[in-house]
Amino acid sequence: MKKSALILLAILSSVMVLAAQQGAQPPARAGASEAAAQAAAAERGRALFKQNCAACHADDATGGRGPDLIRSSLVRHDKGGDLIGPVVTGGRADKGMPPFPLADSQVADLVAFVQAQITLFDLHTRFGPYPNDIPAERLATGTVEAGKAYFEGPGGCTKCHSVTGDLAGIAKKYNPPDLEVRFLYPSGSPTTAVVTLPSGKKFEGTLLLNDGFYVAINGKDGWYHSWPRSAVKVEVTDPLAAHAELLQKYTDADMHNLFTYLVTLK
Ligand code: HEC
Ligand code: HEC
Repeated sequence: MKKSALILLAILSSVMVLAAQQGAQPPARAGASEAAAQAAAAERGRALFKQNCAACHADDATGGRGPDLIRSSLVRHDKGGDLIGPVVTGGRADKGMPPFPLADSQVADLVAFVQAQITLFDLHTRFGPYPNDIPAERLATGTVEAGKAYFEGPGGCTKCHSVTGDLAGIAKKYNPPDLEVRFLYPSGSPTTAVVTLPSGKKFEGTLLLNDGFYVAINGKDGWYHSWPRSAVKVEVTDPLAAHAELLQKYTDADMHNLFTYLVTLK
């Protein structure tokens, strides 16, 4: 999300601040210093999360390329990192989550952050339904013309998309909040790689791992292959790289205008 925030999240967070002011008292049993320690851990965790996780799970952990951690049953059943920890340090390479070699204390901070986010979201639900019901008009605060101009001009969207082709009817396919998340963090097109062996033999497939030590692919031949990274040549193609770059480029106004344009594609 970088410099600009989702409109949806802006609405959400204002509701959450309200909720937090009204209800987020630390449990009476926990001593004040314990609550303060938790809050400090969650703050450190926020920075770690932003740096390592937000690209896929969004700054607030509601998901993007990776799943929504707020509504994840694994996360909800976690006790002190027992379930989240192994996913973070081991990754799920076959499903698109890389391993993170973090220290136990860092994992604990991440867990504290995610738990704090859950508390905020749960408070929010006491004040109304989940934001899936937010109507398009509340999110579409830009202008259609500016969005169309950006789409066809500086956004470069027409290099890969067409509003009469693949994006025709996109606003019917997703409800407004999902559409917002989808165009910012699309998913579904895996990164592929062509691996060339010293012999010149080439293997092509979905990239599973490329960490400096090993490269692994799910080959087009249906087999799993891996090689020491230094032994082969690797050409990576990430079809979503353009979207990752766009996230750095959008101003808030660009995002609002684009979204306002996209919701007209019914
Ligand atoms: C490159 C994208 C990516 C990054 C970066 C990433 N994740 Fe994930 N994460 C995923 C994907 C994809 C899944 C779903 C894997 C699956 O379907 O089993 C996932 C799953 C998870 C799950 C399990 C959720 C569940 O319900 O099963 C947790 C917990 C999690 N990630 C936490 C983190 C944390 C914490 C970080 C940062 C240290 C992080 N992730 C970084 C992509 C990512
Ligand atoms: C270099 C190519 C490229 C560019 C440029 C690009 N996209 Fe995409 N976009 C993709 C790919 C690949 C996907 C994933 C499609 C899939 O797997 O279904 C995608 C997905 C999307 C989706 C979700 C589609 C769906 O059905 O879930 C939307 C909406 C979208 N892009 C909008 C845009 C907009 C708006 C721009 C310009 C600001 C843009 N894209 C620029 C390649 C691109």
